[in-house]
Amino acid sequence: MSEKAQIILDGKTYEFPVYEGSEGEKAIDISKLRDQSGYVTLDFGYKNTGATTSAITFLDGEQGILHYRGYPIEQLAEKASFLEVSYLLLYGELPKAKELNDFENQIRYHSLVHEDMKHFFEFFPSNAHPMGILSAMVNSLSTFYPKSQDPHRSANDRMRTAVRLIAKFPTLAAISYKNGLGHPYMYPDNKLGYVENFLYMMYGLPTEPYKVDPVVADALNKLLILHADHEQNCSASTVRMVGSSQANLYSAVSAGIAALWGPLHGGANQEVIEMLETIRNDGGDIQKWVNKAKDKEDPFRLFGFGHRVYKNFDPRARIIKKSCDDVLKKMGVNDPVLDIAKQLEEIALKDDYFIERKLYPNVDFYSGIIYRAIGIPTRMFTVMFALGRLPGWIAQWKEMVENKEPIGRPRQIYTGATKRDYVALKDRG
Ligand code: ACO
Repeated sequence: MSEKAQIILDGKTYEFPVYEGSEGEKAIDISKLRDQSGYVTLDFGYKNTGATTSAITFLDGEQGILHYRGYPIEQLAEKASFLEVSYLLLYGELPKAKELNDFENQIRYHSLVHEDMKHFFEFFPSNAHPMGILSAMVNSLSTFYPKSQDPHRSANDRMRTAVRLIAKFPTLAAISYKNGLGHPYMYPDNKLGYVENFLYMMYGLPTEPYKVDPVVADALNKLLILHADHEQNCSASTVRMVGSSQANLYSAVSAGIAALWGPLHGGANQEVIEMLETIRNDGGDIQKWVNKAKDKEDPFRLFGFGHRVYKNFDPRARIIKKSCDDVLKKMGVNDPVLDIAKQLEEIALKDDYFIERKLYPNVDFYSGIIYRAIGIPTRMFTVMFALGRLPGWIAQWKEMVENKEPIGRPRQIYTGATKRDYVALKDRG
């Protein structure tokens, strides 16, 4: 591109190349700024920093657009299966029938976890949060597959690791739930589809096998697709950052799970339901809680509201809201927490504080209500998010490895004490 950006510092003009993405997004490449001028850029929370170029997901926060590999999220959520979308994210194209069949078979083939892993689970406290268990277990997978420790070994090895991880993740997620209940673990049933198998392992018991309800499986399939990727968010950036040191995929994804767990990111779905229940138990005075969220002296925030990049609406929240109504109707669920959610949304969307700051319901505002309706316990909500986000994390890692990106290493501006001499302990007063 011939366009250049000029930066004037201390009276001197520096020129930098301008990048343009396939959807017209523009960026100034300032990677040589420090070499040429001695300055670095400062951007707390990376609010305006592009860390990479990527061909996986496009989103436009102002217009509320989200595409995976060019395909609108609305079409994928309506028509595709989660494994089809996973294939799309990993390989860049929708699979042909045989390709999808082979991919599904490979995932089935790898769905068991090593029997020795059972011992690890035995030592977690019974009230351990399933996200903590999942992160630890995904990292420990790397110890069973030493070849995975070299991400540059071969493209085939990378894909085998990716398939293994997608295959074993639902098994580990279901065990992390069973662990808390003290129930026996269920082995996968490879006659079932991916989503159905996960539900079977979650809810089945050796004495009472679970019969999968297609309404529940459909709803979950849609939710997983909506969460499958979201470009350079906190957890995906973590996966890329950890992977940039050439750590193995299991470890990079384990770090991504930890990043997702926080209440400002994926952990918000658990917080939303807990917040709605608190409001209900407190008498249901919604205005009181909206006022608390606006009060700068009060640490309370409305969970499920606001987003770093969506400043108009979150397209995923729009799809989920509709799906939420459908699921509750089909299942005959009448959830008072949903009524509170609806009233809260109505009040907040008319409030100047939320309007001025462009704070809209995000994907987590409604996902928890569907999870609740289909019987997923609150502490498993963020695990569901992780299950959905897994193919996105892997696609981001794969892209970074294949593009041979350098190790991630931001600069800083030091604000601490300037040089001073060591004082012996006896002289410190
Ligand atoms: N409730 C009340 N006020 C809010 C909220 C909220 N949920 N979100 C943002 N604000 C206010 C901030 O106090 C700030 O106000 P100010 O300008 O007067 O200081 C302004 O809106 C901008 O907010 P920031 O925190 O600066 O925005 P940022 O982009 O850094 O944060 C975030 C985005 C973390 C999502 C934030 O909106 C938030 O905390 N939301 C609640 C948690 C949540 O739902 N997270 C899930 C996000 S979606 C996902 O990760 C899948």
